[in-house]
Amino acid sequence: MKPLIEGLQIAIDGPAGSGKGTMASQLAAALGLPVLDTGLLYRFAAWQCLQQAVAVDDEYAVLNVLEKALPRMQWRSEGVFFDAKDCTSTLRGEDVGLAASKVAALPAVRRLLLDVQQQLAKQGCVMDGRDIGTVVLPQAHVKFFLTASLRERARRRWLQLDEQQRRQRSMDDLVKDMTARDTRDSKRQHAPLQRANDAIVIDSTTMRPDEVLDRMLRVLQRRGLAH
Ligand code: CDP
Repeated sequence: MKPLIEGLQIAIDGPAGSGKGTMASQLAAALGLPVLDTGLLYRFAAWQCLQQAVAVDDEYAVLNVLEKALPRMQWRSEGVFFDAKDCTSTLRGEDVGLAASKVAALPAVRRLLLDVQQQLAKQGCVMDGRDIGTVVLPQAHVKFFLTASLRERARRRWLQLDEQQRRQRSMDDLVKDMTARDTRDSKRQHAPLQRANDAIVIDSTTMRPDEVLDRMLRVLQRRGLAH
């Protein structure tokens, strides 16, 4: 399938484990568009703070770390590169994710990263995150909001863990961490996780990825945005 307009922007938002990442990659591949995972930016900020032993809730210090690190970072479809080295798999760790949701609650950090995201989105893309349809790309051509039950989202996350991590973490542990992250993401004052009014909600609890993709592509076709 091909986009019918130049600079097509598709926003995908949803909580952890809702399938945003998988669906964003598959949809982007189906349309030949870049895919931009905004979670990686917040993860990158958190990772830099963890490495430099900077408290992730100290807004001024985090901003300082980020302002120095951003010029050395590259963000693209393949992931995040720091000094030209791919650090994406490190950023995907659960501990980095938890710290990321703390960094992401800081308004100054969000303001700084907003510009990075909007600049790169101009080329046309599938962008996934928490506030893409509401704040980053309010004019996106299509917005999807993905959900799934908490248990199913924890199960998906558990399947992504490797052997060693599975021995250390129980499902109940994951459910607890996920609930904490969901609460922090939805309750924060600045750009909380929220469905945009014009977003199409897809509950993927009992759907396979190919079924979700099919649904998304049909929406694009119906709106005359791809064929
Ligand atoms: O993949 P997963 O859903 O576990 O996390 P992620 O999308 O990589 O995002 C990590 C954290 O970054 C989230 O828990 C959010 O707190 C934050 N985030 C955000 O605030 N806004 C975004 N657009 C993307 C991520």
